[in-house]
Amino acid sequence: MGSTDLEEFVAKVSERTDIYSVVSRYVSLTQKGGRYWGCCPFHSEKTASFCVSVDKGFFYCFGCGAGGNAFKFLSLIENVTYFEAIKLQAQRLGIDLPTKRASPEEERRRREEKNLLKINELAQDFYHECLINTARGEVGRKYLEARGITAETIETFKLGYAPDEWEGLFNELIRQKFTAPQLEAVGLVAKRKTSSGYYDRFRGRVMIPINNIFGQTVGFGGRVINSDNKETPKYLNTPETVLFNKRNLLFGLDKSNRLISTAGAAIVVEGYMDAVSLFSAGIKNVVATLGTAFTTEHAKLILRYAKKIIFCYDSDEAGQRATIRALPIVQAEGAEVFVIKVPDGKDPDEFIRKHGKAAFEELIKGAEPLVDYRIKYVLDHTNHDTISGKIQALNEILPVIAGIKENIIRNEYYKKIAAALILDERVVEEELNKVSSQAKVPEKQFAAIQRKKLPKQKFSKRQCACEVVLRMMWHETDTLSYVLSLLPQDIFSEPQQEIISWLKNCLIQEIRPDQINAARELSDEANAELSRILLAGADEPRDMEMNLFYDSMDILRIAVLKKKYDELLAQAGKYTSSHDENYVELIQNSLKVKQEIVKLSN
Ligand code: GTP
Ligand code: MN
Repeated sequence: MGSTDLEEFVAKVSERTDIYSVVSRYVSLTQKGGRYWGCCPFHSEKTASFCVSVDKGFFYCFGCGAGGNAFKFLSLIENVTYFEAIKLQAQRLGIDLPTKRASPEEERRRREEKNLLKINELAQDFYHECLINTARGEVGRKYLEARGITAETIETFKLGYAPDEWEGLFNELIRQKFTAPQLEAVGLVAKRKTSSGYYDRFRGRVMIPINNIFGQTVGFGGRVINSDNKETPKYLNTPETVLFNKRNLLFGLDKSNRLISTAGAAIVVEGYMDAVSLFSAGIKNVVATLGTAFTTEHAKLILRYAKKIIFCYDSDEAGQRATIRALPIVQAEGAEVFVIKVPDGKDPDEFIRKHGKAAFEELIKGAEPLVDYRIKYVLDHTNHDTISGKIQALNEILPVIAGIKENIIRNEYYKKIAAALILDERVVEEELNKVSSQAKVPEKQFAAIQRKKLPKQKFSKRQCACEVVLRMMWHETDTLSYVLSLLPQDIFSEPQQEIISWLKNCLIQEIRPDQINAARELSDEANAELSRILLAGADEPRDMEMNLFYDSMDILRIAVLKKKYDELLAQAGKYTSSHDENYVELIQNSLKVKQEIVKLSN
């Protein structure tokens, strides 16, 4: 089992490490009595107050108070983490690092996902190359040129062209030793219906790669060159695959996320070409949905970077309806929502090409708050000359207004509505009060209130152990597989489990987890939990933490075993005869568990 590999590794390195040879590499030591003395390397001094006790395996400086074991010394002097110091020493001793072992199933999944990402990357290169360097790509080049898309933008978005052939990409990727089912799995080819074999899904289209947040291509949107032909759809998208899920992908976010943070707002548009166009004109805090409705996941994704979301959908009826539908979703997630209406029926792409960046920036400045937009929309879409029209309009508007927290603003709005609908203010106010009292406190707020009411929690030994272990997994991701091979994930609290899943992901993606990407990727709750846990550990010396870590692992392992022991006893208790085979087996098993507990408790 891979579980104790790490433990064994640390033990082996410790065993073979002698503190004298570690320290004397850096400090010249002289023997006096049972100890070695030298000038402390951690503060400047002329008389030796730095001593090393070989039999205890410790160093200590009477001058500056630095102290610890050999690894602590290495970590201080090489300015590396405790675990890195162990690895460094292992290297010096010629001890191999234990290899991380995932389950075979996990391994297979990881490999396959890498393959699929590779296929998309190669396809993107293929289309891009075809667009910029081949005669076949000429149609694509002409098309993009006519749309005013520069070579620089083509490069930024790695736009491409899928040649008008049935097996162009297919043959190329098969030549590169990928299999037809793999190509089908990423949606680049489809099985022929009438004969055997496969064909390219995208043909004769300008190709727009769609990336995940890490900038890896996970799908494509393909636009026809000539949209007069009503037979073929204007856009063809990658179908849903393991990599490509429209609900939680936003086109452009991999490029715009930093700019969204700095701008404090994201502009959401409907079309790929709108996003491409705005981005290349210098409005870079922009994303596009993938031809589907705006989802809660989309809102959450954006809220990692900024609180403000500005919708800039097409000003046609469909675009407006889509905006209206998106608004409550975004509001529920706690975003500040604004709406830009592009004048004279244009989409953002057309507008910015015609009027330029400055004019678009003016539109952003004039973005309307959600409530105003809603009110206007309702007034435009109801016949409020009639009584029934007035009631309908009120029914639609009042819930939106009831959602406004500030009394003064809410008052302003109901006055406005009363005026617009030519109704008595008192009537509107009464109706509003009815709606307000019906309106439930949003769940999030409710949770916050509940949390405030809770008395200050006392943490159990087991909770503390969970925190220590989590802290170690954060500092030394290498410990992750070790921990998870010994403990079920559900011994951790829910936010902690979220942190762990995320750490696992970082490991897979080979990203170093840090506070910045944590803040970006974790839910608020998990983030708060992480900060709390890290804060608690900040002042502890690292070697202490290593001991604490192993102790905590034992505490948690014992907790797991105790639960198992109780379960076995409870099962055994169901048998009336103590001669029953099953009973005997259960008891024997429970004794084994008990032994393990005793072993761990010593
Ligand atoms: P251009 O006409 O190239 O400017 O397209 P656009 O990006 O402005 O797109 P448009 O506003 O027409 O549509 C918005 C988005 O809806 C597109 O970016 C696509 O994601 C999606 N979409 C549009 N037409 C189709 C279609 O025929 N099929 C599918 N699946 N999606 C489409
Ligand atoms: Mn357009």
